[in-house]
Amino acid sequence: MYFVSLFVLFATINGLVLASFEQDGVVSQQPEQVHLSLGSNPSEMVATWTTFNSAGQPIVEYGIKKLDKTAKGQSTEFVDGGSEARSMFIHRVTMKNLVPGQTYIYHVGSEFGWSPIFWFTTIKNGSDWSPRLAIFGDLGNDNAKTLPRLQEDAQSGQFDAIIHVGDFAYNLDTDNARVGDQFMRQIEPIAAYVPYMTAVGNHEQAYNFSNYVNRFSMVDSKTGEINNHFYSYDVGPVHFITFSTEFYFFTNYGRSQLHTQFEWIKNDLIEATKPENRALRPWIVTIGHRAMYCNLHFPNYTECLNRQTNFRKGDSEFPGLEDLFYQYGVDLEIWAHEHLYERLWPIYDEQVYNGSLSEPYTNPGAPVHITTGSAGCYEGIEYNVMEQAEWSAKRIYDYGFSIVTIHNSTHLSFEQLSAEKGHKVVDKFTLIKDNHDSYETRKLTSS
Ligand SMILES: *[C@@H]1O[C@H](CO)[C@@H](O)[C@H](O)[C@H]1NC(C)=O
Ligand SMILES: *[C@@H]1O[C@H](CO)[C@@H](O)[C@H](O)[C@H]1NC(C)=O
Ligand SMILES: *[C@@H]1O[C@H](CO)[C@@H](O)[C@H](O)[C@H]1NC(C)=O
Ligand SMILES: *[C@@H]1O[C@H](CO)[C@@H](O)[C@H](O)[C@H]1NC(C)=O
Ligand SMILES: *[C@@H]1O[C@H](CO)[C@@H](O)[C@H](O)[C@H]1NC(C)=O
Ligand SMILES: [Fe+2]
Repeated sequence: MYFVSLFVLFATINGLVLASFEQDGVVSQQPEQVHLSLGSNPSEMVATWTTFNSAGQPIVEYGIKKLDKTAKGQSTEFVDGGSEARSMFIHRVTMKNLVPGQTYIYHVGSEFGWSPIFWFTTIKNGSDWSPRLAIFGDLGNDNAKTLPRLQEDAQSGQFDAIIHVGDFAYNLDTDNARVGDQFMRQIEPIAAYVPYMTAVGNHEQAYNFSNYVNRFSMVDSKTGEINNHFYSYDVGPVHFITFSTEFYFFTNYGRSQLHTQFEWIKNDLIEATKPENRALRPWIVTIGHRAMYCNLHFPNYTECLNRQTNFRKGDSEFPGLEDLFYQYGVDLEIWAHEHLYERLWPIYDEQVYNGSLSEPYTNPGAPVHITTGSAGCYEGIEYNVMEQAEWSAKRIYDYGFSIVTIHNSTHLSFEQLSAEKGHKVVDKFTLIKDNHDSYETRKLTSS
């Protein structure tokens, strides 16, 4: 029995009734926009992809030499908030019991069609190894200057993971989310090979961040649940904490989530800084979109000043984060949003706390902040017309991305590559810490 109309096709296949709604006049159950993210431990990897029509139960076939293993997952229909209410199906499958540090081949799909074969390498187990990650924010479709190099490096196994610190596509929801689809296709040559870890930015705000929430799958390693707004995970000797700075600005979507997130960050820090946990994973790195410290005219200087009250210092309405990060000895805070690369001297409450004058990054007295928002988008680079602040160590206005290497429990190095200068390293520093305790404790014991 079947019935065909201009827009809707109902077919009965093996007793299963499927409704296929036309998308842009074409029916497609073909997987696209394939991307990976880390699961709740090194033995897991999550694959996420899109089809424009419902495509049955999602499956990943994978293996070391042959596609001899199968994992099944779930699909959800996502309807974009735009005027066309375009619908798509997001498929998520978690591969489990993988061997850490092992390369696998895989493809994704269902009985209705399969993607090409991709490959990935799981992160190694434990904390005694040296991860290398690419980190950047503010990557759009137009003027995506760093994209070719990131695609090349991802496929040649240069990174254990990639972190995109907010602002995608410009924007994921634009043109009834077609810009989002195109962005997800453009990053597939990166994100189908290397876990692509994300944080939310202001450009994702449309319809309560729904494109961002629906298209990515960020697993909080403690709960095993997906929470794209705030989640934490471990990579070797590092504990990464990702959170939304946007809850502080788009309060029209609700203020309670701001407080929920703050309590979650605090509890996560309490857990991560238990002596047995910090001994294993001494480095704590935070990822959030808008920098705590900025002094640029873009978006405007008022915004830079406002950030100090609403999310750095906090006030009666907004729980501030700077004290919390200082108290729990966060080592490094990575931001984006401003379209440049900026390295700060170790800083707390607008005061610079160099380790020493000659070695500012050796046993600093406060967290180190980096802004890396120059991956490339149509808005271009932000040329600053304000004087460089006393806390600012270096500003680079080239398009580029950052690479962080965590060598061991004491050494972490950071490099900035310029896309305009042939990916030459244009800034480099090494953070050396013999002690990852709270900065407060250290001040007390040294006085
Ligand atoms: C990873 O390391 C942990 C802690 O040493 C251990 O309990 C676990 O079995 C290891 N997992 C794998 C897959 O090797
Ligand atoms: C926005 O989404 C969050 C969940 O991500 C939800 O808690 C909140 O209530 C939503 N806000 C509105 C106004 O719908
Ligand atoms: C500057 O930014 C603030 C905070 O985001 C905003 O309220 C204000 O309208 C902006 N001013 C201009 C001139 O854009
Ligand atoms: C921190 O160290 C840098 C590099 O030596 C120096 O230029 C800067 O003035 C120092 N800042 C303070 C407040 O000591
Ligand atoms: C940690 O790594 C740094 C940089 O590679 C190296 O110089 C140092 O000796 C290492 N420390 C230990 C204890 O292995
Ligand atoms: Fe932004």
